[in-house]
Amino acid sequence: MEQEKKVMLSGIQPSGGLHLGNYLGAIRNWSARAEAFDCYYFMADMHTITVRQNPADLRRNTLEQLAQYIACGLDPEKNTLFIQSHVPEQACLGWVLNCYTMFGELSRMTQFKDKSAKNAENINGGLFTYPALMAADILAYQPDYVPVGEDQKQHVELTRNVAQRFNNLYGETFKIPEPYIPKTGARVMGLSAPENKMSKSAPEGCVFLLEKPEDIMRKFKRAVTDCDTQRCVRYDPANKPGVSNLMSIYAAVTGKDYEAIEREFDGKGYGVFKPAVGEAVVDLLRPIREEAQRLLADKAYLEAVYRAGGEKASRTAWKTLRKVYKKVGFVAR
Ligand code: TYM
Repeated sequence: MEQEKKVMLSGIQPSGGLHLGNYLGAIRNWSARAEAFDCYYFMADMHTITVRQNPADLRRNTLEQLAQYIACGLDPEKNTLFIQSHVPEQACLGWVLNCYTMFGELSRMTQFKDKSAKNAENINGGLFTYPALMAADILAYQPDYVPVGEDQKQHVELTRNVAQRFNNLYGETFKIPEPYIPKTGARVMGLSAPENKMSKSAPEGCVFLLEKPEDIMRKFKRAVTDCDTQRCVRYDPANKPGVSNLMSIYAAVTGKDYEAIEREFDGKGYGVFKPAVGEAVVDLLRPIREEAQRLLADKAYLEAVYRAGGEKASRTAWKTLRKVYKKVGFVAR
């Protein structure tokens, strides 16, 4: 009998454009795995409304995100690409898992603390319980691996705990997934404030995949470095966070190690280094931007992709949900 492929799953919130952190921390790892795994990748639109969104922007961002997934190399023939809200089974499982996720666990989530500090006027229930929905997003598909950046590791760990708790109560139901975190690019920091991770909420330090080359170059040339008078390119995250972040971006994009990068820019200073990193990123993103723009002109194709993806995802998620409903004692439909 043919051995079943292992399963991979991940998602990104379409709350703005995709950025270099999303690409290096997550998507790049996804596209390399389509042959060996059964892959599910989605637009996490239900998560975005934990923070107020403009409806027209959310719709546009969701479609743009799909076009960028494909442009980043996720072939819809080999990967199941879908929109979270098209799979109601995920939200139903989310409710069940909410009842197996503890208040104390949710209170410890770093992302909840950060986001509630930033949105003090709208600390809603969804923002708090969001990790239980994320656990459902994951567990509905019984994946082996969840490829994410460093900042999502805590949510995947919570998912493992919830799955284990459910299995202990009701017998083997969920496969326990592993987070899959890249060696380089797992935590890309902002260019204008290298002590914070790159994020769309600080757009001046954030490089978007669809951004024009001249804008990307401007952001890199203005990147915050340090006041080391020798302006020496050396990897030292504690004392030189800005330079070290640029080095880690350059390393992730070119595949070079830190020693090789130090040698390459020895005695050349930041004035040569910063544009060199910018150019490497522009070269990396150019084909992605061009392909995404081509795809965005073909709405019918994008619609066919998310429809087929949503139907397949729904079938898979229902298999898990049916099992879960039965275990907790719901009468079958
Ligand atoms: P989100 O939308 O904030 O980020 C999407 C992915 O990009 C990674 N990432 C980064 N990696 C490196 N450096 C950065 N600066 C950086 N910023 C973001 C994130 O780690 C993530 O992999 N809750 C999730 C979305 C989600 C999800 C899921 C993920 C919902 N359901 C199920 C996996 C499985 C989120 O908000 O990620």
